[in-house]
Amino acid sequence: MELPDFPWDRLEPYKKTAAAHPGGLVDLSVGTPVDPTPEVARKALAEASDAPGYPQTWGTPALRESVAGWLRRRLGVQADPDAVLPAIGTKELVAWLPLLLGVGPGDTVVFPELAYPTYDVGARIAGATGLASDGLLQLGPARPKLLWINSPANPTGKVLPPDHLRKVVSWARERGVTLVSDECYIELYWEGEQPVSVLHPDICGGSHEGLLAVHSLSKRSNLAGYRAGFVTGDPVLVRRLLELRKHAGMIMPAPVQAAMAATYDDDAHAAEQIERYRARRATLKTALEGHGFRVDHSEASLYLWSTRDEPCWETVSHLASLGVLVAPGEFYGPAGGRHVRVAITATDERIAEAVARLG
Ligand SMILES: Cc1ncc(COP(=O)(O)O)c(C=O)c1O
Repeated sequence: MELPDFPWDRLEPYKKTAAAHPGGLVDLSVGTPVDPTPEVARKALAEASDAPGYPQTWGTPALRESVAGWLRRRLGVQADPDAVLPAIGTKELVAWLPLLLGVGPGDTVVFPELAYPTYDVGARIAGATGLASDGLLQLGPARPKLLWINSPANPTGKVLPPDHLRKVVSWARERGVTLVSDECYIELYWEGEQPVSVLHPDICGGSHEGLLAVHSLSKRSNLAGYRAGFVTGDPVLVRRLLELRKHAGMIMPAPVQAAMAATYDDDAHAAEQIERYRARRATLKTALEGHGFRVDHSEASLYLWSTRDEPCWETVSHLASLGVLVAPGEFYGPAGGRHVRVAITATDERIAEAVARLG
């Protein structure tokens, strides 16, 4: 299997330049959360720390109920708790999903043109062919085994409207294609319409057949360090994933299961976090625009997809000279060659520093 180059190594020289700025580095390249893990999660984790026995791959009934409750409350999705399967963070799930669903050599996995790189890695792990494409028409009569969508999107912050989602669902169903929707930013939106889950009855018609949705607590709840996410949807597909993950030992630790349940039961901390990001995004967006950037899409998620209409590495270099590190759009596909991805996941102090330097 041929893995792609690890692109972040190419950013190292720019990181050195940016770190030499007298005011220190403002790192807006990787979207890693920086605010404290909520007390509700830490308390549940600590209280579950006595865990001598093996945990269940399927997750505790309490965890699956909490997740189903959150899906109902926040997304209007009716999921059977038995069709909820925890993942040790969703990156591993994204990377192994094609293989675990029986995708293999000769099969095609389609993902967005500008995308989180792990969809491609997952196709490679399965020995399948990865194809970056946004247009269903572009695919012609092709019948991929698996189709990824990601709304709100990394890196563009774009939200797919309900009409588009409905079209993708019927396209996939007509062809027997498994549709997997990565919805890890679904509660993080700033402008326009609220993002909708592919499992919402208005989108899928009430049946989850052929559909999976992937969710994560990393961004919503500052839990990236715990590794907590899940997949749900078609009970037959979830059952298959469960069976294989059981055999392979892909088991979320028991204390993390407890923390995840408590975290999905609580919306207050997530609302606070959303407001923090909203404020940071607004000041940073204004500063970027004042500095001559155009910010495209970015109505949701944790990124400002920004351009000065020049090759992305020139923008990376310019911002590094101001001590600000961003990700070149090229990391997410050739279509990103003239954009940079600016993450809003930095402390208020660092965002204020970036704003001052752009001003
Ligand atoms: C689109 C997308 N999917 C999945 C993930 C993986 O998140 P985690 O493994 O923390 O759940 C990320 C992380 O940045 C992402 O941007």
